[in-house]
Amino acid sequence: MAISSSDNKVAVVTGSSSGIGYETSMMLASNGFLTYATVRNLNKGENIKSNAGKENLPVRITQLDVTDELSINNAVQAILSETGRLDVLVNNAGYVLEGAFEHLSMDELKGQYETNVFGLIRTTQAVLPIMRKQKSGTIVNISSVAGKFGYPGGSAYVSTKFAVEGLSESMAYDLSHLV
Ligand SMILES: NC(=O)c1ccc[n+]([C@@H]2O[C@H](COP(=O)([O-])OP(=O)(O)OC[C@H]3O[C@@H](n4cnc5c(N)ncnc54)[C@H](OP(=O)(O)O)[C@@H]3O)[C@@H](O)[C@H]2O)c1
Repeated sequence: MAISSSDNKVAVVTGSSSGIGYETSMMLASNGFLTYATVRNLNKGENIKSNAGKENLPVRITQLDVTDELSINNAVQAILSETGRLDVLVNNAGYVLEGAFEHLSMDELKGQYETNVFGLIRTTQAVLPIMRKQKSGTIVNISSVAGKFGYPGGSAYVSTKFAVEGLSESMAYDLSHLV
């Protein structure tokens, strides 16, 4: 579903301290969404808070670490009690782990999946009951061209983004009756 009319609508973006998450939060707020720019470390939210403030944009900074279920639930509950709704979730938080496959430790690999795949799943599952109740909502999963083909040293990151592609494609079927 396209993100269109924004009056009184609420958006949540994970990983808003920098890069695509920062820009997406600012863009959504510029288009009238009350935007929860979530960050795992609140200190790292100061930049977007200050820049959004200068432009008088409706951006609220909230702590959310996608690897921490309690943190996700606290953020979602806080947003719900402040606004009573949640219209857009942008699953953006992620990072790149590169290295020759045989040199990657299990801990490194699990960490990559915890953020890029299970983080997305956790956050989506926390938000979906609200969208189901509303009978509306938009979920945007930030994948990558690395979700389409592999490259040398990319086994960890690429495989997480392939997972995001597969999840997104199947979830779209599961959720097509949301509205
Ligand atoms: N840049 C590209 O060319 C590109 C291309 C394709 C796809 N992507 C995807 O786009 C997304 C954003 O990447 P980016 O390039 O904008 O990188 P970035 O500037 O490094 O931003 C990544 C964001 O994710 C956050 N993050 C990492 N682990 C987290 C966690 N456990 N919980 C919550 N937030 C977490 C980071 O927070 P901290 O500041 O606390 O680390 C940061 O805000 C990623 O999913 C990436 O795979 C990027």
